[in-house]
Amino acid sequence: MASKTLIAGIIVLIIVVGAVAYYFMGKGGGETYSPTTTTTTTTAQKKVLKVGTSPDFPPFEYIAENGSIVGFDIDLVRHLAKMIGYDDIEIVSIDFDGLIPALQQGQIDVIAAGMTITEERAQQVDFTIPYWQADQAILVRNDSDVKPASAEELEGLTVGVQQGTTAQSYLEDLVGNGTNINIKVYTSYVLAVQDLVNGRIDAVVVDKPVAQTFEKTYPVTISGVIETGEKYGLAVQKGNTELLNALNNALQQFMNSPEWDQLIQKYFG
Ligand code: ARG
Repeated sequence: MASKTLIAGIIVLIIVVGAVAYYFMGKGGGETYSPTTTTTTTTAQKKVLKVGTSPDFPPFEYIAENGSIVGFDIDLVRHLAKMIGYDDIEIVSIDFDGLIPALQQGQIDVIAAGMTITEERAQQVDFTIPYWQADQAILVRNDSDVKPASAEELEGLTVGVQQGTTAQSYLEDLVGNGTNINIKVYTSYVLAVQDLVNGRIDAVVVDKPVAQTFEKTYPVTISGVIETGEKYGLAVQKGNTELLNALNNALQQFMNSPEWDQLIQKYFG
C-alpha cells in the first residue's frame, strides 16, 4: 500500500516535471531550446579573438611543461585583444606554413608567430606595424667540428630550417646562386634542433633571438649571424581594416607603455 502510494507519487512527479520542461521548451513561439543551444549562445556572446601560431619558436611561442602554448607573442596578443574589447583569446596551433592559408580561410583572426613582414606575404595578408626586429643565426652542436660563421660557409653542409620561413627562402636563394647546401625542411623548428642535436644535420638557420633561446635549453651554439634585419608583424585577413587599425593603435600605445618593457623583461630578461 505504502509502495503503491510511492509509485503513484513518482508518476505524478514525472508528469509534473515533464510538463514544466515541455512548457519551457515550447517558449518562444514554437522554437525549442535545448540546454546545449543555450550554452552555445552564451559562448558566442563572448568576444573571442582566434590567434594562430606555430609553437616551436621560443621565447615567442612554445609549449610549456604543462602543455599550454605560451610566449611573448601570446602575452602580446592577449594584451592587445583586451585593449580592443575582446573578452578572451583562443590559441590555435598550426604549422608555420599553414598559418596564412588558415587566416585566409577564416579559421583564425590573427597570426602571431614571429612572422617577418615580407612583400610576398603582404600580398596575401595585412600586417600590423612591426613589433620586433631580428637577424638570422646559424646554430651548430656545441661539439661540432664545423662552425660556419657566415652563409657562404654553409657550403657543403646539411642545414635544417622550418617549412615556409624566411630562412628557407634565404637558403634556397643561396642554392639558386650556386652555393651547395643540402636544405632539410622541417614542420617545426624544435624538430630541426632535435635533429641537429642527434647529429642528423650540420646546422640550423633560425631567427637569432630564437637561436639564443635554444642555446639555453639544448647543447647547441650560435656559430654565425646572417644580418637580414627582419621585422615581425601580426597579420590579419587582407582587407580587415577594422581589426588592423584597432591592433595598430593598441600596439602603438602598448609599445610606449611600461608594460611593454615588463613583457620584454619576462621573456628576454
Ligand atoms: N621570422 C621567420 C619567418 O617569418 C620565422 C618565423 C617562424 N615562426 C614560428 N612561430 N615558428 O619566416
